[in-house]
Amino acid sequence: MSEGQRTKDESAARPKIILGLIGSERKLGNCELFTKEISRNVQEEHELRLIRLPSLRILPCKGCYRCINEGDCPIEDDLGFVFDRMAEADAFIIASPVYFLGTQASVKLLLDRAFSSHRILKKVQNKPCILVNTYGIKDRMGVAPQALRTLAAFLCVHVKASVNIEAALPGDALKEQYLGRARTLGSTLFQEKSTPLRGFCPYCACDIVQAKGKRYICTLCHGVFSLDETQRPVKIKAGWDVTDSQFVYDHREWLKGMKDTFISRRKEIMNLILPYKTIGTWLEPR
Ligand SMILES: Cc1cc2nc3c(=O)[nH]c(=O)nc-3n(C[C@H](O)[C@H](O)[C@H](O)COP(=O)(O)O)c2cc1C
Repeated sequence: MSEGQRTKDESAARPKIILGLIGSERKLGNCELFTKEISRNVQEEHELRLIRLPSLRILPCKGCYRCINEGDCPIEDDLGFVFDRMAEADAFIIASPVYFLGTQASVKLLLDRAFSSHRILKKVQNKPCILVNTYGIKDRMGVAPQALRTLAAFLCVHVKASVNIEAALPGDALKEQYLGRARTLGSTLFQEKSTPLRGFCPYCACDIVQAKGKRYICTLCHGVFSLDETQRPVKIKAGWDVTDSQFVYDHREWLKGMKDTFISRRKEIMNLILPYKTIGTWLEPR
């Protein structure tokens, strides 16, 4: 029996594990509440495990490129804890509040270190995931949903839904109209059948795009499209397939290539940059 088959059989025999990654410090805040409400609606026997990302010590990526070559990240912090818990889980709910038109910073810290997830990638790949953005002000959601989609793409999980919940006050995520949403999300999390994501980009359904003249470039998959006279999207050039883990491996290969280029041109590059070393005064807190 292959390792994959054994893992599958073992996970079928025990209650499922849903891991909620909560990007908010607020206890019983909207992210936490909505995640729990989704879990309450999952019919399959399961355990909901929760990690409050901002409470962890996840340090910024140092850009050393060690993980690009599948080495271990040299930073000693809580990242390994997150990845180990992810490897044990059968499904994910990633929920973050919108902060200043973007996602909460702990999500980006996790994303910046995502290449070191290579050791768990095969275990989390294609596992179902629901993304939740909670926001307080109508028309101030900014680019937050794109950030969660990007994290999901680099972790290779299968995004079953990406939802935006308007919730200014604690508890607003439990308003009647959202309870119905949570019911649907919970009841479909482990179902094989998936409804395609809906969004502006005709390739990956991301809503955040750049406008270049009459063309639009998706900020997630970088597919190019325009709109016809009825405002329907017309595909021009497909971008990355962000639902395929090859997207992550290709990105890593590009970085590896850059590392090799740096090594071969090291002398020339150092000659260019070293004269800048002594310019300016670095300020640091005492
Ligand atoms: C520092 C901070 C910045 C915020 N910035 C935004 C924002 O740019 N747009 C918005 O719609 N809501 C913003 N909000 C509101 C939260 O996104 C909203 O209340 C969310 O539901 C909080 O989720 P939580 O209870 O899980 O923390 C902000 C809240 C805080 C504390």
